[in-house]
Amino acid sequence: MNIDTILIEAKTGRPTTRAAFEAYKAKLVGANGALTQVIKGIGKLPPEERPAAGQAINQVKKELESIFNERLVEIEAQERKAVLGTPVDPNLPTRDKRGRLHPLTQVRNQLTEIFAKIGFVVAEGPEIESEWYCLDALNIPQDHPARDAQDTLYFPKQLKMGNVNKKADEQYILRTHTSSVQIRAMLKNPPPLRIIAPGRVFRRDTVDATHSACFHQIEGLYVDKGVTVCDLKDVLDHFLKELFGNKVEIRLRPSFFPFTEPSFELDLKSPHMGALSNQWIEILGCGIVDPAVFDSVGYDSHVWSGYAFGAGIERIAMLLYGIDDVRLFYQNDLRFL
Ligand code: PHE
Repeated sequence: MNIDTILIEAKTGRPTTRAAFEAYKAKLVGANGALTQVIKGIGKLPPEERPAAGQAINQVKKELESIFNERLVEIEAQERKAVLGTPVDPNLPTRDKRGRLHPLTQVRNQLTEIFAKIGFVVAEGPEIESEWYCLDALNIPQDHPARDAQDTLYFPKQLKMGNVNKKADEQYILRTHTSSVQIRAMLKNPPPLRIIAPGRVFRRDTVDATHSACFHQIEGLYVDKGVTVCDLKDVLDHFLKELFGNKVEIRLRPSFFPFTEPSFELDLKSPHMGALSNQWIEILGCGIVDPAVFDSVGYDSHVWSGYAFGAGIERIAMLLYGIDDVRLFYQNDLRFL
């Protein structure tokens, strides 16, 4: 193909799906596409013809870009039409004038409100986090298998990152859990402490009905004198009854996290949970803060003790509303939202 036929192909092509669009685009401008071949051919032209050929190619590139954009807009309109049956005109006044919070935001607010009532304060931390806050300070050493289990997404060490206050030799990652906020909160505040930290977390997970590479967690941390497993069980029992109703039963199962000792997984059982009624369902991880974590932040572990817990917000929302596919939260299908 020469550049004229490439343009004609682009103009006459009418892909109707994203997949078809990608194929159509790849054929014209992909790594093995027609335009790439033309560009490779420039080298074979006599030197005096090259500048003009280069200019012509740049011109075509621009035209192609705007054609591709038009095609995408058409496809997006098709997609919206498929979802709603009629095209969307965003300028039309809505029938129901109020917007709605995303279901995950609603659940997050519900969770933080339950804890706010019993004195927990919301804390936050960055999503781009240094390994120290997310792993080292939480007693997860360099060679610990938990580092693999976390399936961490790492930034290249040399990367300059706009407004992240990055120290030269630090390894940055996307935080794999909200437990990093425990460390930040303890470094900022002397004990006693009571925080709840909702936020986004990231893992190198393959997306399916129950996994997402990006999801939300809510972390709790309580530090005081003489805190026991009893206190932990009590607060989680209260939390889950507020959320799922008074019929909920809970049980703690021994587990392992490097930052808590002892560690538990908490299961809950409820007669009102649709298909999952009256079954033990795992819902969160928790435990008594490991003294090594207090050492990381300079809390005296002979004086202070505490508990921590972390739960997935999507998981809670799915159980609350009987949703069976986590992807629904991110597809922005208005019928679902
Ligand atoms: N951070 C753990 C996870 O992501 C959950 C957890 C938090 C466990 C706090 C114990 C204490 O799986």
